[in-house]
Amino acid sequence: MTDIILFGPPGAGKGTQAKILVKRLGIPQISTGDMMRAERKSGSELGKKFESFMTQGLLVPDELVLELFAQRLQKDDAQSGAIFDGFPRTVAQAEALDATLAKLDRKVDHVIALEVPVEPVIERITGRRVCLSCGHTYHMRYSPPPPSGKCVECGATDIVQRADDTEEKVRTRNSAYHENTFPILAHYEPGGAVSRVDGIGSVEEITERVMNALG
Ligand code: AP5
Repeated sequence: MTDIILFGPPGAGKGTQAKILVKRLGIPQISTGDMMRAERKSGSELGKKFESFMTQGLLVPDELVLELFAQRLQKDDAQSGAIFDGFPRTVAQAEALDATLAKLDRKVDHVIALEVPVEPVIERITGRRVCLSCGHTYHMRYSPPPPSGKCVECGATDIVQRADDTEEKVRTRNSAYHENTFPILAHYEPGGAVSRVDGIGSVEEITERVMNALG
């Protein structure tokens, strides 16, 4: 049983590393951002509530996030652990996560804090493209989509830039990270769960650092 938080500013590489860890560790990625985008795409009432916060680069209120998270953790594939990507984002969300895991006789075993300064973050995010069909992530410089425009994972042709991936929105998201999310490290540090990992380097180098931190 392993529960891991992949922590870091927007664009730190949480989603990229989470997808690799899913294959290596056999536990699912739980990304509140991906779940919210899927909910918006479905046109549900809940999805409509997320919309204005996300397009402005602001955090979605805790009560809406926790509703979504609680439903996801109940699914069968998350019974032996999970990789939390982009969650928790506030100390209140961290406390709710701890309480939910404790009821299942689980705890946050590792917090992997990917450290990337703001300028590389902006370069990574403004260059990011995402397949709307399967969620596969590209970067126009480091891992561009093929010239055919077909996704290498699923063959779909709807590879787009996220609406919140402009420089202005990234700066807003980065401020929200420093104000609301960064204090979570102090919440987990006394328990010895936090490992700080240099997030600059190739994807493969960072995976090896993460695996070392996980022991
Ligand atoms: P969310 O979707 O969680 O976005 P984020 O945390 O801002 O993180 P990103 O997905 O932008 O970045 P990432 O760290 O996953 O980087 P990636 O691997 O893609 O949240 C979006 C919004 O939803 C929030 O603003 C908020 O409104 C809302 N929200 C979500 N969860 C919430 C919560 N719990 N509470 C409240 N609100 C919430 O990499 C980025 C790019 O860099 C890619 O192009 C990738 O290919 C490239 N890249 C990755 N690694 C490397 C490398 N080593 N070298 C070069 N390029 C790299």
